Amino acid sequence: MANTVITGGTNGIGRALAARLAREGHRVAVVGRSAVAPEGVELIRGDLGTVAGTAAVADEVAARFDVVDHLVLGAGRFSPRRVITADGLEHTFALHAVSRFALVDRLLPVLPTGAVVVSVCGVAGLRGPGIRWDDLALSGRYRAFHAVSQASRATDLLGAGFADRYPGSAVRYVLHNPMFVDSGLGAQVGGLRGKALDVVAGLFARNVADAADQVHRFLADPPTAPLTASRAGTPVALDRPEFDRATAARLYTVMEGITAACST
Ligand SMILES: NC(=O)c1ccc[n+]([C@@H]2O[C@H](COP(=O)([O-])OP(=O)(O)OC[C@H]3O[C@@H](n4cnc5c(N)ncnc54)[C@H](OP(=O)(O)O)[C@@H]3O)[C@@H](O)[C@H]2O)c1
Repeated sequence: MANTVITGGTNGIGRALAARLAREGHRVAVVGRSAVAPEGVELIRGDLGTVAGTAAVADEVAARFDVVDHLVLGAGRFSPRRVITADGLEHTFALHAVSRFALVDRLLPVLPTGAVVVSVCGVAGLRGPGIRWDDLALSGRYRAFHAVSQASRATDLLGAGFADRYPGSAVRYVLHNPMFVDSGLGAQVGGLRGKALDVVAGLFARNVADAADQVHRFLADPPTAPLTASRAGTPVALDRPEFDRATAARLYTVMEGITAACST
C-alpha cells in the first residue's frame, strides 16, 4: 500500500484516480480548494495559486505523511482572461508551474527513494510562443493560448531539469499529457465556446476514468528511468528541444527567485 498525494484531485482525472486508489486500499490525499473529497480520500484544502498557499499545502502534507510514495501534480485551470495573483504572477503560470516547483521543492524530504512524481503537463505537444522570459506575467495583449503554451513548456522543463537541480535524488519523474479528456473544461472556457467545447469533448475526448487509469499504470508499474515523457501513453523522446537542460536550469533559477521573493 502506498501513500499518494494528488493535486487537482477534487475533480476530473485526479478525482477519478484518487477514488480508484482509495478503493484499492491506498492512503490518498487530494489537494484543492473544494470542500469535498471522494469517499475514503483525505482532503487537504488549499489554494495552489500563490506561493504562500502552496507552502501551506506542502507543510500540511509533510505534517500528515512521513513519506509520500506517489505525488501527482494535476492541479490546473484554464484562464480565458488574464488574472494576476497576489504574488503578481500570471495565474496560469503561477498555478501550473510555480506551484509545482514550490511544492516538490518543499516536499523533497518526504519523497523516499523510488518515489514517483507524475506531472500532468504539456509534454512538448503544444505549439505556441512558449516561455516569455522577459514578460512572464504576459503584460501585453493577453491570449489564453499563450498562457497555456508558457505554462506547458515550463512544466515540461521542470521535469527535464529535475535531476540536475536535485542531484542524488532517487525520484522517478514522469511527464504525462493525457491529451483531450472530457472533464468539463467548457465551464472554465465559458459562454458559447465553452458549451461547444463540452459537446466536442463528449464526442471525441477520452473519459476521465480512462485518463485516470493511465496515470494509475505509472504508479502501479513505474518506469525505471529517472525521467520519462508520454502523450496518452505514447512515449515522447527526451532529446527534443523542449527538454533542453540549460533552458531547464534557467527556469529553475527563475523559480527560485520567484519563490524567494514571494516568501519574504
Ligand atoms: N482535460 C484535458 O483535456 C487535459 C488535457 C491536457 C492536460 N490537462 C491537464 O491535466 C490536469 C488535470 O486536468 P482535468 O481536466 O482533470 O482538470 P479539472 O477537471 O479542470 O480539475 C482541475 C483540478 O485543479 C484544481 N485546482 C484548480 N485551481 C486550483 C487552485 N488554485 N488551487 C488548488 N487546486 C486547484 C481543482 O480543484 P478545486 O476546484 O477544488 O480547487 C481541480 O481538482 C490539469 O493540469 C490540466 O491542465 C488536461
